[in-house]
Amino acid sequence: MRWPGVLEYFADYLPVTSHTPLITLNEGNTPLVESYQLVEKLGAGKLYFKFEGMNPTGSFKDRGMVVAVAKAKEEGRAVVMCASTGNTSASAAAYAQRAGLSCIVLIPQGKIALGKLSQALMHGARVLAVQGNFDDALSIVRYITSHYPVALVNSLNPYRIEGQKTAAFEVVEWLGESPDYLALPVGNAGNITAYWKGFKELKEKGKITSLPRMLGFQAEGAAPLVSGKPVSNPQTVATAIRIGNPASWKGAIAARDESGGLIEAVSDEEILQAQRMLAEEEGIFVEPASAASFAGVLKKSEEGFFTGRETIVCVLTGHGLKDPDIAIKQGEGRIEEVGASAEEVVEILGLEREHV
Ligand code: F0G
Repeated sequence: MRWPGVLEYFADYLPVTSHTPLITLNEGNTPLVESYQLVEKLGAGKLYFKFEGMNPTGSFKDRGMVVAVAKAKEEGRAVVMCASTGNTSASAAAYAQRAGLSCIVLIPQGKIALGKLSQALMHGARVLAVQGNFDDALSIVRYITSHYPVALVNSLNPYRIEGQKTAAFEVVEWLGESPDYLALPVGNAGNITAYWKGFKELKEKGKITSLPRMLGFQAEGAAPLVSGKPVSNPQTVATAIRIGNPASWKGAIAARDESGGLIEAVSDEEILQAQRMLAEEEGIFVEPASAASFAGVLKKSEEGFFTGRETIVCVLTGHGLKDPDIAIKQGEGRIEEVGASAEEVVEILGLEREHV
């Protein structure tokens, strides 16, 4: 099947004009994988994983970035810029190349996963490691993009939100209705804002009759939306959501309150446990931040939050290969060394010969 990508497929729902360059890496159309094993643990009716790690650069950012970069090009911009915990920079760098623009990314020094850094470098972005955190980097980018001829492609750019809302459309297209709950990790809060906008648009157009309740999860050490105040020194193993002052704060709170949902925190330990469960029991490898959605759903289920009849969709925002360091650290001690002979391999495995 030919999949034309987000700009063309969802053109009627996006700010696409006759002048918009229809650039694409054929992003979107990601699978909604049905849970076989973890659903049993939850006691939920149905559990699905919207695996956004299957996008071209390995995260959901591609949906919004293709729109933001296309509009920047349409508006005659030559340079795009973002602050990023990694995935936005990878996506911006790739789509800027695709559109023939240059790209500058500001990343928090030492706090970005290896896979993401390798992408920004390979796609030829100008990479500046800021001696500060994501929030520091974003305020620099906001200043520069409002004073210099450089286009902002963080999710403060409304085109990013427009593109990202298409994931909600795909969930509905796949299920034929909206789920009861949509769970996702929350960092800068653009994605929860975008999904909620997408579901509301479908309801206004009469394509769905009910809206999901939005369940947002932050990392305990970086949970400003849970505590209600910015965190000056956010810390978490899930570097993608290591953010203390989300730009789309109001959008996240509106999504929570209008949907009758919640935004709560999960610990690093719960995040890593959920990451391993997804990999070992469902065969889905995600980066730590992405596992926050399932970690949160698991926690709520243990608290007796669900009745056992609901349909739950967990958004898995980024691929596990983004952060090989954390994955390998979790598997440390599991590699067994063996000599290069069949006998030694048989011995170490303790295999018994079959008698015929
Ligand atoms: N999951 C992953 C894998 C992410 O990279 C991000 C954000 C989020 C979840 C949270 O989404 O910010 O819309 O609430 N990453 C941004 C970045 C901040 O720079 O790549 P959000």
